Order: sequence, then C-alpha cells, then structure tokens
Amino acid sequence: MYPIDLSGKNGIILGVANERSIAWAIADILGQAGARLALTYQNDRLKDRVARLGATLNDALLVPCDATDDQQITDMFEQVEQTFGEISFLVHSIAFANREDLSRPFSETGRDGFRLALEVSAYSLIPLVRHAAPLMKNGGSVVTMTFHASQQVYPGYNVMGTAKAALEHEVRQLASEFGEKNIRLNAISAGPLETLAARGIDGFRDMRHIHAERAPLKRNITVEEVAQTALFLCSDLSTGITGSVIPVDAGYNIMAV
Ligand SMILES: NC(=O)c1ccc[n+]([C@@H]2O[C@H](COP(=O)([O-])OP(=O)(O)OC[C@H]3O[C@@H](n4cnc5c(N)ncnc54)[C@H](O)[C@@H]3O)[C@@H](O)[C@H]2O)c1
Repeated sequence: MYPIDLSGKNGIILGVANERSIAWAIADILGQAGARLALTYQNDRLKDRVARLGATLNDALLVPCDATDDQQITDMFEQVEQTFGEISFLVHSIAFANREDLSRPFSETGRDGFRLALEVSAYSLIPLVRHAAPLMKNGGSVVTMTFHASQQVYPGYNVMGTAKAALEHEVRQLASEFGEKNIRLNAISAGPLETLAARGIDGFRDMRHIHAERAPLKRNITVEEVAQTALFLCSDLSTGITGSVIPVDAGYNIMAV
C-alpha cells in the first residue's frame, strides 16, 4: 500500500494486453490507491484476458477501444461519461509497428508502415486528450509511455523511435494547450521491460543487458517502478509538473558510454 489516496477519483487506462503490460501494472497500483478505472481493450481477441485482470479491481469498467477507429474512441468516452460522470486521469500506454519495420533497415520503412506506427503510437494521444478534457472537470493528469529511442538511435527501434519523438512533442504541445484547464500531460520514458510489445524489437535482450551494465543503478528497472511514477503523476503530489518526459531508466540516459 502506498501513501497516495485516489479514492473518489476515476480514470481511463488504455493498453492492457496481458499481466505483463505496463498498463496493467499501472492499473493495479492505481486500483490499490482507491481509484475507479475504465480499462480499454484493443479487440475481441484481448477482451477475455483484460476482463479477467479487470475482475481483480474494484468495480472496473471494461470498454473496447481500437485507437485507429474514431467511432470506437467516441463510444468509449460516451460510456465512461455515462458511468463515471467525470475523470481525473488518463493513461495512454499503447504503441504498434509492423514487425518488418522493426527488423529491416530504417531506410526501407514503407509509407503504410510509417503511417500505422505513427497513427497508433503518436497520433492516438491527440483525439484521446480532446475527448478526455471535457470530462476532466476539476483538472486532470494524462500520462503516456515513451522510450529513449526518441532521442538516440537504438538499432531495431526504427520507426518506433520516430513515433516516440512525435509523441514527446505532442506532450509538450498539448500541455501548453490544456494548462489553463489545469490538465497536465507528462510522459514516462521507461527502460526496457519484457512485454509483448518489446518482443517485436530486434535485439531487445541485448538492449536489456547493456542497460543493466551501463545504468548508474547497475540493473534494469521493474514495471512496478514505472507504475509508481504513474501513480505519482496521476496524484496531487505532482501538481507542478506538466509537459515533461520523466526517465524511469535506472539513470541510463545520463551516461555517454
Ligand atoms: N516494454 C518496454 O520496454 C517499453 C519501454 C518504454 C516504453 N514502452 C511503451 O509502453 C507502452 C506499453 O507497451 P508495453 O511494453 O506494456 O507492451 P504491451 O504489448 O503490453 O502493450 C501495448 C498495448 O498497445 C495496444 N495497442 C496496439 N495497437 C492498438 C490500437 N490500434 N488500439 C488500441 N490499443 C492498441 C495493445 O493492445 C497493447 O495493450 C507502449 O507505448 C510502449 O512503446 C515500452
């Protein structure tokens, strides 16, 4: 149990695929802190698994939301508004790129693959925040997930690095736009974690070893450490922070070699 109380607060978490998902660790910790959650799932294939996880939370709402489908986004927010009335946080923990675009040379990235990766992993934040803002009647916090490949080259990360660079820019742009409404936006830049999405990255295992070797803390981070930071960002302990990218990476990003 953490000394942060979110009872009486509601929020939406996008990106639970299974129990290893970063979004699930965040849902779990926010649920323990007393928040009531809407969990979205991308498609029917994932529905049962997300429902099983959601059943361990207190009265969670389960809603479909494929982020490439505007109608599903609208319907999801309608259902959330009907059930919760208002929300105080939204966690965006989704990304996608075609496997071949993560394994061939970056210069061979196709137009459709580029569009899809940027649409799911970066564009999606914009309509989600647009819909969430009117429900954040007393201000709110939006948290998204990024990676250091937005700034530096990780062979194999390819178009996902481009998408993360766009996503981090959106965080600043949206933070500036919604600041007057007391809606804060921040990104967590997590070190490499073994999840479904990570499996698609060529050389992911090596990346984890190199991080553990070079990071000041001499280890990889845990998904709980990311979730704890998300809890802080969704709580009133972080009311002075917006538009930031917060590394949770055992310090890896400060090292030159
Ligand atoms: N695992 C890592 O090492 C790591 C590090 C830094 C950042 N991240 C980021 O964290 C986030 C979560 O990834 P994860 O590692 O937990 O993997 P994950 O596979 O568990 O989660 C990715 C999620 O994206 C969802 N998704 C994909 N396409 C979608 C669409 N069209 N509509 C709605 N949802 C869609 C999937 O359903 C899944 O729930 C991603 O943004 C990822 O880039 C991961």
